[in-house]
Amino acid sequence: MTTVIDVENVSKKFKIHHERNQSLKERLLHPKTGSTEVFHALSNINFKVSDNETVGLIGHNGSGKSTLLKTICGVLQPTTGEIRLRGNLAALLELGAGFQVELSGRDNIYLYGAMLGFSRRGIDAIFDEIVDFSELEKFIDTQVKFYSSGMYVRLAFAVAVSVSPDILVVDEVLAVGDERFQKKCIDRIRLFQEEGRSILLVTHSADQVRQICDRAIVLDGGELIADGPVQESLRIFREHLLGDAIEHDHSGVQSNITIDAISSPTGSFDVRCGEAMHLDVEISSATAYSGNFVLEVFTRSGLLVSRSDAQGSPVNLVPGRNRLGVDFTKIPLLDGIYDINAGIVDTRGNTVIAWREGAASIQVLYDGREDGIVEMDALIRQQ
Ligand SMILES: Nc1ncnc2c1ncn2[C@@H]1O[C@H](COP(=O)(O)OP(=O)(O)O)[C@@H](O)[C@H]1O
Ligand SMILES: [Mg+2]
Repeated sequence: MTTVIDVENVSKKFKIHHERNQSLKERLLHPKTGSTEVFHALSNINFKVSDNETVGLIGHNGSGKSTLLKTICGVLQPTTGEIRLRGNLAALLELGAGFQVELSGRDNIYLYGAMLGFSRRGIDAIFDEIVDFSELEKFIDTQVKFYSSGMYVRLAFAVAVSVSPDILVVDEVLAVGDERFQKKCIDRIRLFQEEGRSILLVTHSADQVRQICDRAIVLDGGELIADGPVQESLRIFREHLLGDAIEHDHSGVQSNITIDAISSPTGSFDVRCGEAMHLDVEISSATAYSGNFVLEVFTRSGLLVSRSDAQGSPVNLVPGRNRLGVDFTKIPLLDGIYDINAGIVDTRGNTVIAWREGAASIQVLYDGREDGIVEMDALIRQQ
């Protein structure tokens, strides 16, 4: 394993100048007021990426993801610390970074290629492949300023992957454009992975992180708060995300719902494999709210065993205390302790309204000799 990106103790400070809201008279009397604030966009970031590794970078808006990618690509200088790269790097930074909008798609391909160290003939050789991938044949001689953001991303992605860099850095842009093209990009990224190249990917999609990353890093307020297995990092991110959502949003219904407790009517969370189990969920809500109840089951090592359908269990919460019953008709799990997370999501199933990590743990006892997580229920016969 070779380290291809080595980020060592990197910090980035921005100076922000605040003009005070002064009357003209005050400004004339005290011309030098106003203050300069130093903003820590990144604080002491350390991590490495190896060859053949795909690392996801997740965090809230403003957590420093783009700033970190820009320092890695050399677009920004870190205030302190050092970044070492091995091999050549192609980047798809935020929309707007990279292309000359007055030039055509064709000219931009040559320009971008030149920035990555390609000669004109080098680009000639891959030009058709780039245009083909981007599906922009008809618009290749149109000025980029007339492109939609989707077209823009298609061109940028096509160039970045066609120049065969050792390291590909992608900032969120995969969310732009239609689903079909996104899938095409993901397929291309997989090919890239098979070739043993490295990828650093910023995305808002937890599914994308699960699908393509080997590891995930979580940034929060410019600090690296997690770097590890995808599932573990996503769990930490979600805890922070919800903590913030609840703290910051005192106005809406969203902050006023809590999962108070998950209890077992028998008082015990022990269950035998194959048996049924009932759990009671207590939820308080300040207002009426209609959404869906979601349940997750994890192994102690952080492996997701099951997540219920985010649109499959509609609930109508009333103001005050609410009680839900969860019936497992048959626990298929093998011996072990399993953690349960529970939450309320909106009716469309894509925004978390309330969440409780580790709301309960169940201990499953299994009499047989199978190993693993679930009982297979397989009938073996000689034929
Ligand atoms: N050039 C800049 N000058 C001042 N502040 C900046 C600059 N670039 C980014 N920031 C600030 O740094 C923080 C991190 O921004 P960014 O890296 O874009 O976050 P993310 O990509 O995670 O949304 C934000 O609060 C942003 O306002
Ligand atoms: Mg960003």
